[in-house]
Amino acid sequence: MAGREREKRTFARVLAGAPELPANVLLVGLRGVGKTVLLREFEQVATGEGWQTSRVQVEPRHNTESALTRLVGELSTQVVERLSIAARLRRLAKDAIAEARGSISVTFDELALQLTPVMRGAEQDIALALFSAAKAADDHGSRGYLLMLDEAQVLRDERTREGEHPLSMLVAAVNGLQGQNIPVGLVVCGLPTVRSNLLRARTYSERMFRGEEIGRLDPSAGRDALTVPFTDAGMRLTDDLVERVAADVDGYPFFVQLWGAELWEAATTAGISELHLDVLLEIEAEIQRRLDVDFYAGRFESLTRAEQDLLMAASACPYPPLRSVDIRASSDKSGANVNVLMGRLIEQGVLFRRKNGEYEYTAPRFHEFLGRRAGRA
Ligand SMILES: Nc1ncnc2c1ncn2[C@@H]1O[C@H](COP(=O)(O)OP(=O)(O)OP(=O)(O)O)[C@@H](O)[C@H]1O
Ligand SMILES: [Mg+2]
Repeated sequence: MAGREREKRTFARVLAGAPELPANVLLVGLRGVGKTVLLREFEQVATGEGWQTSRVQVEPRHNTESALTRLVGELSTQVVERLSIAARLRRLAKDAIAEARGSISVTFDELALQLTPVMRGAEQDIALALFSAAKAADDHGSRGYLLMLDEAQVLRDERTREGEHPLSMLVAAVNGLQGQNIPVGLVVCGLPTVRSNLLRARTYSERMFRGEEIGRLDPSAGRDALTVPFTDAGMRLTDDLVERVAADVDGYPFFVQLWGAELWEAATTAGISELHLDVLLEIEAEIQRRLDVDFYAGRFESLTRAEQDLLMAASACPYPPLRSVDIRASSDKSGANVNVLMGRLIEQGVLFRRKNGEYEYTAPRFHEFLGRRAGRA
């Protein structure tokens, strides 16, 4: 893991401020930019600072109030069990049990009673589940309980009043607990759409979260991400090769990883330990092919025909950003139809709205891929 030192320091600072300042973090970025690996690092930081954590990748099937409540309930039960096993083992080993922090003064039943007038049904259930985990953490001497959700853009409230509002429910439950100084925290990680989903769910969420948008690695971290694994294995990349890869990958972690893996394979297959620019030139076409197949094609092919057609029309538009006026002009579909399709592409995480009428792809260089696919490059 190269770079991201600042993000990790900020995260540790946010944790240190809890529970007086709620430990909520929003981590967003494009596809393949390194959110998941950073979330894992955050978890290690949190554990090192004495927090209990659950980290989970949310799936579309969790996007209802009851399913999300069930998920959080299961995670909380796991934490409670894990800590009770730990306590039993320590007792068996006649080890001292860590002292409870005693920062939670309210009991489960008292809290349930307090919540009844303000929270209903699933919202109260999810709050009580989070409370149980926080209480177990506190009894264990931990700082608190941190729930970490990856791919959180799949959680989105329906617009109608009668519809499902899983995201509002979660945010309101966490906010309610934090208002009573219960040491729970929420780390929400995903595509940039997470931010607007949250805002739409609860306007106060803007003040609740410390936001981080991660992007490309800076040039020196990008070089490290490429070269360190080779150097560690006693191999060497020449400077002209490193410069060329740096220009090709433009700091995008997934690309660094792919270029590195292909170079590695070429070098080990050929049994060479010093890699020159020629090696790259030899395998460049294969790298491009793998990039298209592994990174882009799956996303594209999972879309409907009409959605694909719209993207093909978009590939002829100037970029970035993709402007709705341009796409309406280049597509033969009606304006209303274009709007519906754009909405679906956002829902599926292909596009996100930067501002009104302006969109970006969630995958870096997706526009170039579409151009290749359309036979333009
Ligand atoms: N800072 C880094 N240093 C070195 N490698 C990195 C770094 N960040 C990410 N990578 C590598 O880049 C690849 C993509 O990272 P990761 O899966 O975390 O991205 P992501 O943002 O979660 O993508 P997605 O949106 O598709 O889930 C992985 O192979 C990861 O190991
Ligand atoms: Mg990820």
